[in-house]
Amino acid sequence: MQGERSAHPGEGEPDAEGTVTVADAPQETRFARPQEADARRDAPGAGFITLRGVTKRYVSRVKSTLALDEIDLDIRREEFVALVGQSGCGKTTMLRILAGLIKPSSGEVTVAGQPLWRGDRREDDALAKLGLVFQDANLFPWYSVEENIALPLRLRKVDKRERLRRAHELAELVGLKGFERALPRELSGGMRQRVAIARSLSYHPEILLMDEPFGALDAMTRDKMNLELSRIAKATSATVVFVTHSIGEAVFLADRVVLLSARPGRIKSITEVDIPRPRSLDATTTPDFQEKVLTLRHQLAEDEERLARGGGVES
Ligand SMILES: Nc1ncnc2c1ncn2[C@@H]1O[C@H](COP(=O)(O)OP(=O)(O)OP(=O)(O)O)[C@@H](O)[C@H]1O
Ligand SMILES: [Mg+2]
Repeated sequence: MQGERSAHPGEGEPDAEGTVTVADAPQETRFARPQEADARRDAPGAGFITLRGVTKRYVSRVKSTLALDEIDLDIRREEFVALVGQSGCGKTTMLRILAGLIKPSSGEVTVAGQPLWRGDRREDDALAKLGLVFQDANLFPWYSVEENIALPLRLRKVDKRERLRRAHELAELVGLKGFERALPRELSGGMRQRVAIARSLSYHPEILLMDEPFGALDAMTRDKMNLELSRIAKATSATVVFVTHSIGEAVFLADRVVLLSARPGRIKSITEVDIPRPRSLDATTTPDFQEKVLTLRHQLAEDEERLARGGGVES
């Protein structure tokens, strides 16, 4: 079944998506998280997450693809960054690099001043800060909704009562109240994705990496999830990198929208959205919001035309 993986916890890629590491978690799992110590660690002016000259080339026997070319980006702590760009421009590649799932061919990524990689060795301390949500929900089919949501807490040895309390709180947050005991196969694709989002939030990650998490949801649920994510990101002080195909969604959610151009993936523009978060849907009706959406749509269309004319410079 799509969105489900039959791996056991702890096997394969860094666990189920959303359960990358098994750091100690406090028993108290409410939203607030101590920030002061972390804030002191960021050098003034430096990004919380930095990419310097990040390049990724996929090489197979028949083909070599320059997916990302010399990406430089600084992401501030608690910033919400949306990545947009046409299909194949390298958005997922960039997210997977940030998640430590793949290593850049060259360049460096740091999180809170720590490199993600030292040679071929991944720095697990940096990864402990991450929560991941991908296009596919990647739920464990034999676990119920509440068990799937609580899995990262189980791996962190949080006691059962607290795990269930948190799982129920999150199930309600993502609109799954009443489905806590259901199995993934009894849910729609959108509902499964909401379980994945709840799971990624269960242990208060400092950084949420989300790859089109709402792509499979209907428009109404998607609006609701956008509002909830906007609120949750603010309430949890999370730093978010969010990939989407929807320019409107990107401008609604993000402090900055990074538009990648394709072949090779390069940063074409960075758009600041200077509207305080969390936002209400009213924000989408302002002239400033609509102008930003339109400008980005034009930029995206330009890139599509360039490629259609055979303007890709990838080698
Ligand atoms: N594992 C891989 N091996 C070889 N090439 C790959 C691999 N993964 C991605 N690519 C190539 O790298 C480029 C960027 O792919 P990526 O999945 O990052 O794009 P994307 O922007 O996420 O696209 P989409 O919007 O369709 O999800 C594409 O040309 C793709 O074919
Ligand atoms: Mg992708």
